[in-house]
Amino acid sequence: MKKNTTTPQRRNFLKNLGLSALPVLLPAASMASGLPLDTTHQQKQAPINFIFDGLWFSPQAYLDKLQEINQKQKIAPDFYGNGGATQKLENAFAKLTGKEKAIFLPTGTMANQLAIKLLNGDNTKVLVPENSHVFRDEADAAQEVHGKRLVPVGQGKPFFDLQDLKRTIRYYNEGEVFKSGIGTVMIESPVRRADGVAIPFNTLKAITDYCREKGYKTHLDGARIHLASAYTGVSVAQYASLFDTVYISLYKYLNASSGAILCGKAEVIDKLAHQIKVYGGTAFQTWNATAMALHYLEGIEDRWKKVKNNAEQIMSALNKMEGIQIKKVTNGTNIFHLKLDASIDLKTLANTLFKTHNIWLGRANKEGIVKFTINESLLRRTPKQIVDAWKQALGKAKK
Ligand SMILES: Cc1ncc(COP(=O)(O)O)c(C=O)c1O
Repeated sequence: MKKNTTTPQRRNFLKNLGLSALPVLLPAASMASGLPLDTTHQQKQAPINFIFDGLWFSPQAYLDKLQEINQKQKIAPDFYGNGGATQKLENAFAKLTGKEKAIFLPTGTMANQLAIKLLNGDNTKVLVPENSHVFRDEADAAQEVHGKRLVPVGQGKPFFDLQDLKRTIRYYNEGEVFKSGIGTVMIESPVRRADGVAIPFNTLKAITDYCREKGYKTHLDGARIHLASAYTGVSVAQYASLFDTVYISLYKYLNASSGAILCGKAEVIDKLAHQIKVYGGTAFQTWNATAMALHYLEGIEDRWKKVKNNAEQIMSALNKMEGIQIKKVTNGTNIFHLKLDASIDLKTLANTLFKTHNIWLGRANKEGIVKFTINESLLRRTPKQIVDAWKQALGKAKK
């Protein structure tokens, strides 16, 4: 039977991402795509969103930003990923992660899949976190396209530890008659499906030390690794030093329209350009994404110090307001849990914040929790301005 790829599937996709809340908050004109793609210029103030990891540019805002970047210093184009802004970005990431080389890929999915495939060599099994993007959100690409069998570890936990890993390895090594090798262990941190939990450094180190000792290769899905660094104080290079390869997203918080970077030893990264081509991922020009990411990479640590500091001030003030409670997630990064008591109407609060202040808030889940997500958009106004906006909106939302 032909797969249904029309609207319901897309709606589910948005729902699974937690984005289905958005149309509730946005004017009809912006709803055609189900996402707030054209709202930025409808209001006088630039938006502050408590929903995404990044700024979530409208097309107009994206063009304006590229224009601004280009005016400061002419953006140099790449040619099939060679030279220009793309090469600059690759060099910057190699330096940042302390790896020999880095390469641009069109998606993180491709970065994860090709890293796993190349690291695994002739081995068939790759051990992955059960709640990872690789295991649950990449459409079984490892099995379907690359002939690798993904073995899940740590079901029901935000992340697995060394004991979980050893138990799983023992189970497969002892229980299978026709042996085929385990080649790679892969980890995701921060963990998207666990509200952005950053796996403690000691846990990562114990796992990767063991893997090195046993000869397993290691890959880090570090799509949001800067967020981990901002909250743990462990540098991106320290995280990367544990793994053979690390992937970092260009659009989560670096605000590019899409894209990914994979970093590692030259012997691995040098094989990537050919692999990307084979799977149809070699785009003619990629500077529109890489120039943007390069721009936001510069100074990111300092900006996130400010984001974190301002967010703490804002949340402390909001927590003092009647009926609002914002809680940290254990080992969390930029996602917090916001709960309102019965005296406040969330829909009115969110609508007022949106319409009057261009502040975006998501919808509550079944447990009544709104995932209150911190990002650089906070820096567009002072903490006092943001808190004052909430005060005014709360006044309206009191039942
Ligand atoms: C943890 C993680 N890894 C990988 C990806 C895949 O990135 P892309 O959308 O570029 O394929 C995502 C995207 O949501 C992600 O959250």
